[in-house]
Amino acid sequence: SEVATRIFHVRDGEAHQFTCTDGDSLLRAALRAGVPATYECNSGGCGSCKFTLTEGEVRQVQDAPAGLTDRDRRKGRLLACQSVPQSDCTVSLLIDPVDPFHAGLSLPARRVGEVVAERMLTHDLRELSLALDADFLPGQYAMLRRPGGEERAYSMANTPGTGVWQFHIKRVPGGAESGAFVDEIALGDAIEVDGPYGHAHLKATGRDVVCIAGGSGLAPMVSIARGLAAAADASERRLDFFYGGRAPRDLCAGEFVTEVADRLAEITLVDVVSDEAPDDWDGARGFVHEAVAAAGLTDLVDRDIYVAGPPPMTDAVTRLLVRELKVPVDQIHYDRFF
Ligand code: FES
Repeated sequence: SEVATRIFHVRDGEAHQFTCTDGDSLLRAALRAGVPATYECNSGGCGSCKFTLTEGEVRQVQDAPAGLTDRDRRKGRLLACQSVPQSDCTVSLLIDPVDPFHAGLSLPARRVGEVVAERMLTHDLRELSLALDADFLPGQYAMLRRPGGEERAYSMANTPGTGVWQFHIKRVPGGAESGAFVDEIALGDAIEVDGPYGHAHLKATGRDVVCIAGGSGLAPMVSIARGLAAAADASERRLDFFYGGRAPRDLCAGEFVTEVADRLAEITLVDVVSDEAPDDWDGARGFVHEAVAAAGLTDLVDRDIYVAGPPPMTDAVTRLLVRELKVPVDQIHYDRFF
């Protein structure tokens, strides 16, 4: 069914009107209509899509999403990514200031992609390539749904324009969806793909870059590295790449760093192991943010820094960068997932 929603910018009072179809959340309907509502995770976790409902009725996707605090609930706030309009609505939500680099941004759409290639990158990380002729920017993500499964957010690892969207999916302990993507999905399977989403995409600023990835955050950082290497000024760019895992067998960034090395002025890779490092391990030990601090890069305030990984890791990294190393916040790029 189709329902119309009227949106009011909170900042400048300007009104937008658009239609929600196909059971879309308020957030997705807004983004598909080109209304830049604030968001990060699209999955109820980060809380950046809060809004208030002035008129009409919305259905909640999750009863108690982590992105809403008790205080939000008392104040009647809802999450746009978890609210599906059931009637004409009037809502008041936050609009992102226009991103100066979003000229190349595609509006998200629902499509179906066939699995055309697959391989294991580590014991629990699988690369899946889906045939999709649609654009995105390096560092963005999509919502994937396998037949009969639930939707999950995964970042693209490749660069656009190849007719393929490539994903790195890590088997999460106890995660039915990630487990099925790693162990069951086969060549020829059809996967629903809704995207692209995300703000932490490559910005063409002419600055040198740092990529900091942990766990399942490798894919978007590989995409950023590939995008940087494909840019016209790549031969002037330096990239420092940090990747943290529990054990050496989790680490596989070397192949991607090698792939782009020739096209960049300089590239370094620091592999970081947090749990079990054998005696002969010659990489870094501990947490990724500690490895970033230990690397002693002296020009971080002049870099663009992209971060992807579990929230405790992105929190620790951004705290270090902003509070201790005084990196301007608008040079740090990440989308938070929980
Ligand atoms: Fe809605 Fe994260 S909670 S975008």
